[in-house]
Amino acid sequence: MLKILVLYYSHSGHTEKMAYEISRGIESIENSQALIRTVPKVSTVCEKTESDIPKDGPLYITHEDLESCHGLALGSPTRFGNMAAPLKYFLDSTSSLWVKGALINKPACVFTSTASLHGGQETTLLSMMLPLLHHGMMILGIPYSESALINTKSGGTPYGPSHLAPSNSQPLLTDAEKTLCFAMGQRLAKTAQKLSCV
Ligand SMILES: Cc1cc2nc3c(=O)[nH]c(=O)nc-3n(C[C@H](O)[C@H](O)[C@H](O)COP(=O)(O)O)c2cc1C
Repeated sequence: MLKILVLYYSHSGHTEKMAYEISRGIESIENSQALIRTVPKVSTVCEKTESDIPKDGPLYITHEDLESCHGLALGSPTRFGNMAAPLKYFLDSTSSLWVKGALINKPACVFTSTASLHGGQETTLLSMMLPLLHHGMMILGIPYSESALINTKSGGTPYGPSHLAPSNSQPLLTDAEKTLCFAMGQRLAKTAQKLSCV
């Protein structure tokens, strides 16, 4: 069974919704299991820390989860055109994995959610790829053979799935966004299988 990690941060549930749709795509591929993980919030007050186990929802990511996975989907809301600090904070803790080359040749993809249509989906996705490239991961996007990529009136980019979530809206993906998240999960799992020669 291949273990594909879906690691995300989400403050108000939109990126989380995408994570679950990507996981559905992963698990639609035989012998593929999605392992959903999140990261704690970070605080500017150093003394304020989150407990080790979250009150609800997925567990917090560990280095072992990352080291043992066969592929990674990484998701973050857009924050000023970039990924959110809690996810970046976790990635900045992974130099021991980088030293070991633990992630080299594992396939990966990225996903994001914004409040505005031109609010930086692509810049966020590209910035999320940078640390993964430093880790030697193999980045996947979405090919234009997915017709939802051309027809979407909301999120969806060739750099990875995205979601347009107008302020104060419920976390609900459009059909095109769902299709592209699902397709991304499938592509990631299929690639992990090929690279692992399963
Ligand atoms: C500090 C901060 C910065 C943000 N920057 C952007 C931005 O640059 N572009 C944008 O469209 N939305 C921006 N947003 C809105 C979030 O990206 C958007 O609400 C996102 O869908 C939230 O995802 P979540 O529900 O997974 O937390 C920002 C929100 C916050 C709190």
